[in-house]
Amino acid sequence: MAVDRRMPASLLRLHFHDCFVLGCDGSVLLDDTINFKGEKNALPNKNSARGFDVIDKIKFVLENECPYTVSCADILAIAAREAIVLSYGPRWRVLLGRRDGRRASFYGANNELPSPTDSIENITHKFRCKGLHRKDVAALSGAHTIGETQCKFFKERLYNFNNTCRPDPTLDPTLLKELQNLCGKVPNCGSPNSSFDANLTALDHFTPFIFDNNYYTNVEHKRGILSSDHALVDDQTTSFLVKEYSQNQDLFFNDFVVSMEKMGRIGVLVGQQGEIRKNCRRVNYY
Ligand code: HEM
Repeated sequence: MAVDRRMPASLLRLHFHDCFVLGCDGSVLLDDTINFKGEKNALPNKNSARGFDVIDKIKFVLENECPYTVSCADILAIAAREAIVLSYGPRWRVLLGRRDGRRASFYGANNELPSPTDSIENITHKFRCKGLHRKDVAALSGAHTIGETQCKFFKERLYNFNNTCRPDPTLDPTLLKELQNLCGKVPNCGSPNSSFDANLTALDHFTPFIFDNNYYTNVEHKRGILSSDHALVDDQTTSFLVKEYSQNQDLFFNDFVVSMEKMGRIGVLVGQQGEIRKNCRRVNYY
């Protein structure tokens, strides 16, 4: 955090991307090799997922102290929790003993992680496939109270929303102008120049480094950045939760904790399954 204020957000997202693909098994950490296709180059992760060096550093220290004991998947789970505690968010219980997988799923990373343009139905479906429900979607989306996003993930909202030649009417006009400045101005309904695609904006413009319930206030006031953020208020089954969470931070924290504990249990490998990796970037023996 001292050298990179965004790192807590990146570590939380890494744990999420790990758990949604083959379970919380450290598969997101595996590098591509000539004969191994990892998840890092899948669309949701490529030039986007970050924090790998931090996990490597923790692993290095642990391997010197107690080799082959703490899995990369457990490191990721604890790093995410500590990152949020340090960001003034809630603390949740992290059960330990996850083992590391020996495979990765490029397909899973592309298809099982929610996309920012997915409808709420699609997002809920993807969560349900992992044993999570609508309430978990609403509570876990609150993670977007910290961290940043690149223009490429929301630029369609700025100029040509759903092929209407107009911006998304559900985006606050002041925020719209700010984002258009950041992501490149486009006359009429052309496509913005992709040289702006990697420009970054905070997911929560008011308290970008503090884990609070401000995300829900943003979303209520048309200041959610991603389409998937706004989708929570358009849907009746989640909009009441957005309202409740925006009014009651304790309630949000309680529900977030329950959902994080559930997420951290998705498809874990135990006992003799998998292995404890020596290096989080590769399986022990090819
Ligand atoms: C509900 C469906 C979700 C969608 C569609 C979604 C999509 C995205 C996208 C597109 C970004 C920006 C990435 C970039 O610009 O490189 C992002 C960032 C982030 N997401 Fe999500 N996300 C979802 C749920 C979650 C969940 C469940 C968590 C964690 C529990 C999470 C945590 C984060 C964090 C912390 C960031 C900021 C990362 C950083 O600054 O490095 N997201 N998300």
